[in-house]
Amino acid sequence: MFSRRTPASLAPNRLSLLLAERKAAGAPVIDLTVSNPTGVGLDYPREEILAALRDARSLSYEPTARGLLEAREAIAEWHAGQGAPALPDSLILAGSTSEAYGWLFKLLCEPGDEVLAPRPSYPLFECLADLDAVRMVQYALVEEFAWGIDLAELESRVRPNTRAIILVNPNNPTGTYVKRDIWLKLQEFAAYRGLAIVSDEVFFDYAWGPDPRRVSSLQGPHLALTFTLSGLSKIAGLPQMKLGWIHVAGPEPLKREALDRLEWIADSYLPVSAPIQHAAARWLELTPRIQHSIRLRTGENLDSLQQAVGLESGCRVRTPEGGWCAMLEVPRIHSDEEWALMLLENHSIWMQPGYFYDFQREGFLVASLLPEPESFRTALDRLSVIFGPH
Ligand SMILES: Cc1ncc(COP(=O)(O)O)c(C=O)c1O
Repeated sequence: MFSRRTPASLAPNRLSLLLAERKAAGAPVIDLTVSNPTGVGLDYPREEILAALRDARSLSYEPTARGLLEAREAIAEWHAGQGAPALPDSLILAGSTSEAYGWLFKLLCEPGDEVLAPRPSYPLFECLADLDAVRMVQYALVEEFAWGIDLAELESRVRPNTRAIILVNPNNPTGTYVKRDIWLKLQEFAAYRGLAIVSDEVFFDYAWGPDPRRVSSLQGPHLALTFTLSGLSKIAGLPQMKLGWIHVAGPEPLKREALDRLEWIADSYLPVSAPIQHAAARWLELTPRIQHSIRLRTGENLDSLQQAVGLESGCRVRTPEGGWCAMLEVPRIHSDEEWALMLLENHSIWMQPGYFYDFQREGFLVASLLPEPESFRTALDRLSVIFGPH
């Protein structure tokens, strides 16, 4: 009856079952998986965020497939302010980055075509590819190269029906940014093989320190058709507002045609509401303040994690280059799943096992750096006992 675009089984995994059980029993759980910044007690400019929604222009409907020019101009200005040039005319607005992926798969792929995506990385890629009948083929981010791309390995994954290379810049959860040397080679390779580059830069603003080797895909050269994805969800810490975007760059006339075709796809959905588009410019003005409070929070938790007494004897904290999470390398006496189940069952700590992100090997847990610092430190005290000297 149902297509294979949805999973064969929707049965929850062992970790979800245990979590539901614990919650039903009213047991307190410290959630170190939280990725929603609006649920962790951060200081948002609440009145200003809400005031931006009260705009009389929202009372009339002006369907614009690419998105309202004013919103696109504000987004281009934001990126330019971050040192990454973007053009309002090269932007298409969508409801989220996830939706943007769906549009790009529709634009680039026939059913059964392949896209390359990094491993380990964001778990939703496979679902998004399945939903568009696209095959996701993974290329490795190599632990020994600080989770960088091994270009030869990536190239070996390309087949005649490969259409695009997805980059996650910085990657979730490893936090690694794409560096200029690889970027130049990838552009040349993609142009030569007729592949598009899709660079997911939702966490780009959250670097832990400067590094001149890093590059945004908004920066040229654009020898290949290049799509940069971002959105308010991470940039402005406003996932509930549902606004993402695609920036298109590349050689003419390919770029022009890609934009026209994306506009055609967007016109079939018209998903972004007028109040959100009218408020976007104001929210982007508030973004430095919101990013500041997110950075304070993630920075405080990262410091606590790095200083957690005793933790280092059985567990290594992998310091990320950027993003909202950190990786813990744990002894391989148990599988990642067993560790996660044990932490939840015996210590009321909920953490993501590495396999959620498809690490090449066992031995990783992923901790969000967003939780309230007090509960984060309580979790660290417990982890220090578990991984500390025995
Ligand atoms: C790499 C990456 N891309 C995209 C998203 C989702 O963004 P959006 O809310 O705009 O769909 C996430 C969410 O965690 C992510 O980690």
